Amino acid sequence: MTKTDLTVKSEMLKDTGDEPLCNQSGNPTFASMLDNPLSRRHVLRGSLTTIMAGMVASSAMGLFTSPALAADKLSPPAKTPTPSGLNPILGFRPVPTSMSNSVTVPKGYSSQPFLSRGTPILAPYPAYLDDGSNSGADQEAQMGHQHDGMHYFPLDRAGNGSQHGLLCMNHENIEQQQNMHLNGPTIADGIRVHEDEVRKEVAAHGVSVVEIRKNGNDWEVVRGGYNRRITGATPMELSGPVRGSDMVRTRYSPDGTATRGTLNNCAHGHTPWTTYLTCEENWAGYFVNHGERPREQSRYGVRTTASRYAWETVTHVDVYARHDVTPTGNDATEDYRNEASTFGWVVEIDPMDPTSTPRKRTALGRFGHEGAWMAPARHGQPLTVYMGDDSRFEYIYKFVTKDRYHPRTAGGHMLDEGTLYVARFHADGSGEWLALDIDDRKFRAAAKKAGVTFKDQADVLINTRTAADIVGATPMDRPEWGAVHPQTGEVYMTLTNNSQRQPGDEDAANPRAPNFTGQIIRWREKGNQNWAKRFQWELFVIAGPEGDSAKLDGEPLDESNLFNSPDGLWFDQNGVLWIQTDGSQSAPYGNNMMLAADTRTGEIRRFMTGPRGCEVTGVVTTPDSANMFVNVQHPGGSWPDGGSAQPRSSTVIITRDDGGPIGI
Ligand code: FEO
Ligand code: CA
Ligand code: CA
Ligand code: CA
Repeated sequence: MTKTDLTVKSEMLKDTGDEPLCNQSGNPTFASMLDNPLSRRHVLRGSLTTIMAGMVASSAMGLFTSPALAADKLSPPAKTPTPSGLNPILGFRPVPTSMSNSVTVPKGYSSQPFLSRGTPILAPYPAYLDDGSNSGADQEAQMGHQHDGMHYFPLDRAGNGSQHGLLCMNHENIEQQQNMHLNGPTIADGIRVHEDEVRKEVAAHGVSVVEIRKNGNDWEVVRGGYNRRITGATPMELSGPVRGSDMVRTRYSPDGTATRGTLNNCAHGHTPWTTYLTCEENWAGYFVNHGERPREQSRYGVRTTASRYAWETVTHVDVYARHDVTPTGNDATEDYRNEASTFGWVVEIDPMDPTSTPRKRTALGRFGHEGAWMAPARHGQPLTVYMGDDSRFEYIYKFVTKDRYHPRTAGGHMLDEGTLYVARFHADGSGEWLALDIDDRKFRAAAKKAGVTFKDQADVLINTRTAADIVGATPMDRPEWGAVHPQTGEVYMTLTNNSQRQPGDEDAANPRAPNFTGQIIRWREKGNQNWAKRFQWELFVIAGPEGDSAKLDGEPLDESNLFNSPDGLWFDQNGVLWIQTDGSQSAPYGNNMMLAADTRTGEIRRFMTGPRGCEVTGVVTTPDSANMFVNVQHPGGSWPDGGSAQPRSSTVIITRDDGGPIGI
């Protein structure tokens, strides 16, 4: 795609959706750099089988080989155990696709909804009212909307952390038109008329921390002191290199150390020191600049006419008015020109301390953060956090801490110092991590060559996308979730789809144009060291219909596992890879779903289907693997309450009828 094409598309897509197309860097795809026959659409169908079949040979050796070389090395499927010794065998019969308005799970399993939006978790425990008449204050004490990434933190007081814990979950967005308010949002001439409607919408975003306990067969909310709502208005600290920068000074925080709220929290992560990482994805649409947008706004899609929900039109309430980032004062401390630069970060929350202030960890970069997944911590070694930027043609990143991990000294401060890298995927199956560091000689040379200047590392981090553009990162098909194998350290990431990839711009890692159905890529770092600067990669599965898909064994997907648009991804304690979808629900796929994969053999089986209209996103189990929590986001119909009730995003609890571990 040429720069001009990208500019045109960017304008067309501007202000229209969750993933504005903002990358106008014109970074070359492999197809334009290399004469790579595998990247050409006309040979793709034949190549899918060849690409994927070759991977069996490489997996058998415990090594990845180049997709381009794989065709010459076809050999029988692996029989050896995984290098880790983990050898999960999927132990359930796959469920068929479904178009019903219910959750389906395999024979021998049960499911029930839990923690639906509006469930009261804080005093005075206001009951959920189905007609939309709950107030903003009520919403601040209730579960938010659009459940997404989540993690379970065991509370081991009774000696069994699998019966009692804290569930932390993100609330990505709202369905503003659906029973949030008695008669929908009240808007006159583009102005939000009722302040309390805006208060409620802000409170429906963010994160919930909920203490839950199993009582017999049922989980219940504990009305205790851990419960907490973090919303689009909660006070937060800025931490890391951007803290105190003049680029984040605002009327609220003249010294540039604080901000309010977290928005559009998609996926998540967690740390060895039992904190939760929540990630800001499509935050740019919540801000408007009526004047000239600086690069730290235009490269991210800050809007130019009105923000997504026009909160800024409640001009007499500072926390809402700040969503208009047009300069009006004499300097940055008199207005909110810098407010959008306090969003786009990974936010650390300590669920064990309800009085703690969430911290935006700026060293991990600013982009459309889907999630932040830490590789298994190794004593005496740096920590590595993998991250994706979910927009079309955006990049995959990782952060490597400067300090080494020791359980006694580890803590959030480790996320304030280190190196941010962006990935370049080569067509021969190798890859490299490129430092986005103003002290790095190659980075400075790339900036000079591109004619781009950064005044300091805070400037680099606030403009992470621009920094990644100039070093020549590989534009991907919308990186969504990542997952790191709990023992081997292999990294998997979903590339959900990319309707805008043009024929001729395919590359080995993103081999279809347009790509409506997505793929999962995996890589192994050099020396099995997650902090390494080089890696080997391959495609784990190419999703889509039978005629345009391939598994690791080279065979296409079939009725037991057809899926499209992989999004959520998680390794459980047993090494099973769980894949969740957010894609087309027309034939042959049906409702969005969750599948389980054996990453050694590449076998994939459909485990669950969601109700109509939802995406399935977010999954975790208790440590004993006997209780699985899965989030159902924006269901249609009347799920889960039935009758004429409005739909409600909810967590689904899945158990095995014999109490055994899920999926194996
Ligand atoms: Fe919120 Fe990229 O999904
Ligand atoms: Ca979503
Ligand atoms: Ca997602
Ligand atoms: Ca998605």
